[in-house]
Amino acid sequence: MRISVIGCGYLGAVHAACMAQLGHEVVGVDVDASKVALLAEGKAPFFEPGLPELLTEAMGSGRLEFGTDMSAVAGAQVHFICVGTPQKRGENAADLRFVDAALEALLPYVAPGDVVVGKSTVPVGTAEKLAERLAEVQPEATLVWNPEFLREGFAVQDTLHPDRLVYGIQAGTEGARAVRLLDEVYATPLSEGTPQVVTDYATAQLVKVAANSFLATKISFINAMAELCEATGADVTQLADAIGHDARIGRRFLNAGLGFGGGCLPKDIRAFMARAGELGVDQALSFLREVDSINMRRRVRMVDLAREVCDGSIVGRKVAVLGAAFKPNSDDVRDSPALSVAAQMGLQGARVVVTDPEAIANAEAKWPDLTYAPTAEQAAAGADVVVLATEWDQYRDLDPVAFGEVVAARRIVDGRNVLDPGKWRAAGWTYRALGRP
Ligand code: UGA
Repeated sequence: MRISVIGCGYLGAVHAACMAQLGHEVVGVDVDASKVALLAEGKAPFFEPGLPELLTEAMGSGRLEFGTDMSAVAGAQVHFICVGTPQKRGENAADLRFVDAALEALLPYVAPGDVVVGKSTVPVGTAEKLAERLAEVQPEATLVWNPEFLREGFAVQDTLHPDRLVYGIQAGTEGARAVRLLDEVYATPLSEGTPQVVTDYATAQLVKVAANSFLATKISFINAMAELCEATGADVTQLADAIGHDARIGRRFLNAGLGFGGGCLPKDIRAFMARAGELGVDQALSFLREVDSINMRRRVRMVDLAREVCDGSIVGRKVAVLGAAFKPNSDDVRDSPALSVAAQMGLQGARVVVTDPEAIANAEAKWPDLTYAPTAEQAAAGADVVVLATEWDQYRDLDPVAFGEVVAARRIVDGRNVLDPGKWRAAGWTYRALGRP
């Protein structure tokens, strides 16, 4: 099938490459010429495991092309809208400028019978408005809301083998033709038994934000327990293991530490609260405000811990921060807890050096005032305290004995609860962590 993908960021670039991998002919369009130039050479504009290989393969097959000219989408039967919906400046609500602009740019090329598929994360009610606009210009085309659940770092796997496929179709219509076309697009994952939920627009849009809110709540729940553990001398990792054995609770997404960041969970829960307010049901989501504050408190606590291990002051102390990306296997620094902690310590007078295997360039662009080093050893040379902020394998696997040779003082704060305290203490380190004795 001929498919178009509008917006080639984390979501769109991966979606386009995966659709080509599934055998479709795909054209990806983005307004950012430098991003398109990279993609057109088969290069990924961001770090995502497996994506460069997939792009090379798909470009080689001749089934994938990228461009900035929207007219290239003409002739595609299915058009995926994959643009970003960032948080509005100074407000909790989502900024829908890019979604609106993508649809407007696409409209002249939508033919009768085409299906426009929304994948961006939007406030409930957006699909209904977009469908209205589509009907004004091309009444014989259909809009389906098909939210995306991919995780950065596992984006290729999540797109090719999703946990579920949700299709939101306009209430009062059967949408049979649109469903059939989308089933054709996703024939391979469907044949693997991927569960499918066909529902209305409102439900489909809510599924996405509900899922991200649940995940954020799970993380903040365990981080709230970490606060209790800190007050009582208990160990939050053992607590998580123990409650996680209950299949109703489950151990995944119960890793206590610096909390969640990135381009999705923080802004999605805020946009969800803003939308609930508009709908007059803000009380229903007031718990998300608490989820957000628990999350932000972890960053403050991390800085406090670094101060505690440095005998009460970080002024003039050299702090090595391991990690800049919001999570491992990503170069994304949007709302990164690691960088927020690094910046706070810098503001409070510490000499901070940040390292990351993939995210230094992005971090430097966003936080030019911080100092960066290419490796953990270089960042930690002469450090008074080391702060592990993003749990890359390189940092989990550090040898406390050898690493102890480069620092000025063996003090480490484990912001992700991934190091073995016994091993580090045996090597002479003062080990502290969030939620562990
Ligand atoms: C998240 C969701 O997991 C995806 O399902 C969703 O599609 C995506 O947002 C989106 O809306 O596009 P992502 O932002 O890639 O995916 O990252 P996650 O793996 O969810 O991690 C989010 C943050 O939570 C990271 O900062 C991570 O370090 C933190 N986290 C995660 C914890 O602190 N503890 C955990 O146990 C798990």
